[in-house]
Amino acid sequence: METTMAVVLQDSVRTKFQELFNDTPLLIRSPGRVNLIGEHTDYNGGLVLPAAIDKNIVLAIGKRDDDSVQLYSLDQQQTHQATLHTLDRAPQLWPDYILGVVQQLQKRGFALQGFNLVFGGDIPQGAGLSSSAALECATAFALNELFGFGIARLDLALIGQAAENEFVGVKCGLMDQFASVFGQAQQLIKLDCRDFSYEYIPFNTPDLRIVLFDTQVKHSLASSAYNERREQCEYGVSLIQRHHPQVTSLRDATLEQVERYVKPENEVVYNRCHYVVAEIQRLQDACEDLRRDDFVAFGKRMFETHAGLQHQYEVSCAELDVLVDLVRDDDAVLGARMMGGGFGGCTINLVKADQTQRVIDTVVRLYAEKTDKHAQAYVANIAEGTAIINH
Ligand code: GLA
Repeated sequence: METTMAVVLQDSVRTKFQELFNDTPLLIRSPGRVNLIGEHTDYNGGLVLPAAIDKNIVLAIGKRDDDSVQLYSLDQQQTHQATLHTLDRAPQLWPDYILGVVQQLQKRGFALQGFNLVFGGDIPQGAGLSSSAALECATAFALNELFGFGIARLDLALIGQAAENEFVGVKCGLMDQFASVFGQAQQLIKLDCRDFSYEYIPFNTPDLRIVLFDTQVKHSLASSAYNERREQCEYGVSLIQRHHPQVTSLRDATLEQVERYVKPENEVVYNRCHYVVAEIQRLQDACEDLRRDDFVAFGKRMFETHAGLQHQYEVSCAELDVLVDLVRDDDAVLGARMMGGGFGGCTINLVKADQTQRVIDTVVRLYAEKTDKHAQAYVANIAEGTAIINH
């Protein structure tokens, strides 16, 4: 069921396209994501447990006869122009997510023509809900449809990730793009980032809600610190590899190896690696909790993940910690933790459905008292991945 808001968004994207280009577009949508548990594990060959949510990028696209690329962002009310042969980084960030995808398609030998594109969205930006991955995936999916390339869904997600890695310069893993492309209603995706195998785990628990509290901050060190964490993990692997050449990622490593080979060399790198190896195991245990419908045990693991991200991986921030501390002793909140890359964005909370409004009101009030900032709250519904909009 589409909400009125979703329909309004689709109509305004379509109308803007018609107004600018006097043409009937192909309409695509691609969602943002949440991640229940398994943070900073994807680029370590580990497991993640994301789901697509009912907030989307909606994109309208149509072919051109020349090699020009005409882009318009409805939210920013900005245009950007490029050609297929001059894909430079844009002064404002949003065109890069689109141009990065164009570049990746070209690198893989797909012959593109010029195109017109308009997009808008209802995924809060800078909130750690992967609006950028959604834009990359919407673009890859749209160009694939428009030009009939026949690219498989997994490759569309990989193209989105490569765009982010190479054009935008954030060395992210595959979680966000995979969740956007492969999302299914009421299903979590247990994705193994070592070989991209995956399974859906049902999450239709009428008694619980997934509530996101947005700190409303995004600290500027986010992307450089992200890339630094990745390097630290790779360094940790290289230390273990000297003794165990078969270990090629932290997925292959044990806590004992981390203790033995990384700790004596570098305490900080040890902390990073210890967190990741423990988190991969925690996710496996959390999936067992889900199979037993034991959300109390699952929620406790979410708090443990937060502690690891705060103290060992050090990607949290004061505002995220405040939000987690505010719900720690609330019986209606089974679990809470920071979500995504860190240094701002959202916490994810498992909340008893009948207490949702009370919890939201309390947290928003106390967060304002403690930080002078206004937290935004969202109830996330798990929804379908990237698709064509047919009407
Ligand atoms: C960001 C990245 C993902 C993942 C998370 C942390 O969302 O884009 O690939 O690494 O951070 O789990």
